[in-house]
Parts: sequence; structure tokens; C-alpha cells
Amino acid sequence: MRAWTSFLIRGSLAASVLAAAAAGVAQDRRTVWDGVFNVEQAERGRLEFELYCTDCHQDLTNASDNTEFLRNWGEDNLISLFDVVRESMPDNDPGSLTDAAYVDILAYLLDGNGFPAGDDELVIAELPAIRVEAADGPGEVPDASLVTVSGCLSESDGRWIVSQATVPARTRDPSASSDEDLEAMIDAPLGIGTFELIYVFPAPRDRVGHRVEAKGFLIRDADPDQINTSSVATIAAECP
Ligand code: HEC
Repeated sequence: MRAWTSFLIRGSLAASVLAAAAAGVAQDRRTVWDGVFNVEQAERGRLEFELYCTDCHQDLTNASDNTEFLRNWGEDNLISLFDVVRESMPDNDPGSLTDAAYVDILAYLLDGNGFPAGDDELVIAELPAIRVEAADGPGEVPDASLVTVSGCLSESDGRWIVSQATVPARTRDPSASSDEDLEAMIDAPLGIGTFELIYVFPAPRDRVGHRVEAKGFLIRDADPDQINTSSVATIAAECP
């Protein structure tokens, strides 16, 4: 298992360095496969997990199969998992641990889900820049994830359609982005996707023709893909 894993890591590192060089993009992209915590930290995290978490969770790890971990936390940055745990756990006393304890527990969860240890400890400041993805590289956000897209809203036969839509990205917040964040999206490029917004309340009639942000749960087996909508907000009152 170990040997096979490190073979995969080396392969994917080499491939991503080549791809980065070819695309001329930043080469300091880091993922959970890059040894982002060390064994001492994971061991501290294990002890903290046993103290504070095992009343309710027997185990949140499976080193031989991290499918479940990736389904919940993949195609996202590590800060999302950290924030969810810090803001909601322990369920009976959220936020009661120190940041250091939460980050150690994160190291333990990574270790326990089969990601490799490295030389240095994981620190909070790095979490937004560390990608969680499978060993073979980035993939699609899984079906049923809470996502955000942006694109042009239209109405067709009573269906709400977002076209020229961006690739769905994970979000942890179902509500509309702040006005400030919406404004910052104006210069972002549009995409080529199409989504039907379902269960939209209130009906977004006054946003037709707008460039919108739509959030909700992704349903991939539909044609076009659907979003079980939690919020729709206007980015700009026109769409190119
Ligand atoms: C008093 C019970 C309780 C304790 C103690 C507790 N949890 Fe939880 N935890 C829950 C419940 C209940 C859920 C599911 C709640 C939800 O999904 O909103 C949950 C969900 C989670 C999840 C999300 C699981 C997933 O994969 O979607 C994580 C991660 C987690 N807990 C981590 C922790 C950690 C780390 C600790 C210790 C610091 C901890 N929990 C302590 C009750 C508890």
C-alpha cells in the first residue's frame, strides 16, 4: 500500500510539474499529497481526537479507502474542512479547542485517510492554499455537493437556465455572497456550462438577462445538469 501510494504521488507530482510548466502557471500549487503535515503532529492530533471527539465519532479515518473523505472534502481547499470542524465541533461545545489542537486534529485526519506525512507541521496560514484531491489529480466536484456557479440567467418554457456558466466550485455557504464579493466577480471570465435551476424561491423573474451567481446542490445525472437552488444573486444587470 505504502509503496503503491508513493509511486502514485511521484507520478502525479511529475505530471503536475510538467503541466504547470507547459501552461506557464504558478508551480507552487500544493495538495494533500505533498506531505503537508508531519508524523509528530498527526500523533498529537490522534490523542486530541481521542480526548474530544470519540464520544461521538468512532472513526473518521480509513487509510485504505479515502473515497468518503474525498466525496466530502475533495475539490476544495483544506481550510474548508478546518473551518467546518472549528466552527461546529465538538458538536456539544463548538470552538472550544485551541486553534493548535484543531490543526493537529486535521493532521491526524489527513494521516488517517492515507495522505502522506512530510517534514513540516501544517499551519493554519497555509490551509487556504492546499488542495484536497485524489492521487491522480484534480477532478470534478462530486454529485450532490453544495456548489456555486455564475453565468447568464434566462427563462425557457418555465425553466430557469444559467448559460455560459462557470465550472461548479465547492462552497460551504448556501446563501448569496456579499455585495462586495459579487462585485469582485464582474471581471471573472464566463464559462461554457449550462444548468437548470430547480426549486428556486422566490422565482428570479427580475434577474432574467442578468449575470448571476447561483448556489445549491449539484445534480449531475440530469440534462442539462441541475442545481437544487439555495440562492440566486445578481453580479451585473446585463450579460455579455
Ligand atoms: C457530542 C457529539 C460530537 C462530538 C463530541 C464531536 N462531534 Fe463531530 N459530529 C457530530 C455530529 C452529530 C455530526 C453530524 C452533524 C452534521 O453533519 O451537521 C458531526 C460531524 C462531524 C464532521 C463531518 C463529517 C463529515 O464527514 O461530513 C466532522 C469532520 C467532525 N464531526 C469532526 C469532529 C471532531 C474533529 C471532533 C472533536 C474535536 C468532533 N467532531 C466531536 C457530533 C460530535
